[in-house]
Amino acid sequence: MALDRRPADMERITNPELAQKFIDEQIKDIQEQVGDKKVLLALSGGVDSSVVAALLIKAIGDQLTSVHVNHGLLRKGEPEEVVEVFRNQMKSNLVYVDATDRFLDKLAGVTDPETKRHIIGNEFIEVFAEEARKLDGVEFLAQGTIWPDILESEEGIKAHHNAGGLPEDLNFKLVEPIKILYKDEVRIVGEQLGLPHGMVYRQPFPGPGLGVRCPGAITRDRLEAVRESDAILREEFAKNGLEGKVWQYFTVVPDFRSTGVKDGKRAFEWSVIIRAVNTQDAMTATVENIPFEVMTHIVDRITHEVKGVNRVLYDFTPKPTGTIEFE
Ligand code: XMP
Repeated sequence: MALDRRPADMERITNPELAQKFIDEQIKDIQEQVGDKKVLLALSGGVDSSVVAALLIKAIGDQLTSVHVNHGLLRKGEPEEVVEVFRNQMKSNLVYVDATDRFLDKLAGVTDPETKRHIIGNEFIEVFAEEARKLDGVEFLAQGTIWPDILESEEGIKAHHNAGGLPEDLNFKLVEPIKILYKDEVRIVGEQLGLPHGMVYRQPFPGPGLGVRCPGAITRDRLEAVRESDAILREEFAKNGLEGKVWQYFTVVPDFRSTGVKDGKRAFEWSVIIRAVNTQDAMTATVENIPFEVMTHIVDRITHEVKGVNRVLYDFTPKPTGTIEFE
């Protein structure tokens, strides 16, 4: 029988053997719970939903359908990686929905950060529910709830919003195979399941994605500048041994231009802001000391490779007073 709560005396999963033991137990529990019924999963490509997908593929194979909604606010290469890993390599049923236009059209002209979050959250549920209705006979919804989500919602710190918002007529029963695990355990289990290291050890990424890193009204060209500069930053951090050492790092492109010069001509363009912080729990954060030479190289690449950008700034603000994200 699947456990509802983490037993107080449960041994922390710290190695591949313990991870394998957990995987074997879960496979049995999932098969027992689901029988020959169908299961649906919203697969974002984040650590938790990816590990749940990999577990379910092992346990029930074709009875799982995963839906990856590309809201157009994902990082460069992310949707492609989800398709590559789950459709091409793991041969699972993956529905890929490119909903970029829907999201960006709804977000056009919207400047308030919380309104942007609501639009993105609601639209996500709508797209996912539409896909769910296209499938016949799905009884279960799988979710990547983890133990801290349950503790935090019990303590009133944050709502555990995984299932929240789906229309009631869909009436799914929940499958939550990693709900007794801490995040570090989820990563070890993910590696044991054969997921790519980069997918399992990725930095936190907010649900509204690059949408909150394109402050003010999102435009496609500025969003592209965020995505391209973020990709360069991640590539350079990986090359220079900063990946895994810095908790979260990303770029932001605010809606203002400044005068610059490119190829001998006036260039009135955007600035990219780099943010790189370390934290234990995201409640407070300190700014990372990035070596000067690494920074100048990143500045050189971003100003030469990213369209519409003539300046790069570094955010030296700890949390508090700045939050980690800009919106
Ligand atoms: P802040 O900006 O509040 O961020 O200091 C703390 C952590 O939470 C992430 N974050 C979000 N995650 N939806 C999410 O799923 C959101 O709307 C959201 N806003 C912030 C942020 O990336 C950081 O890791």
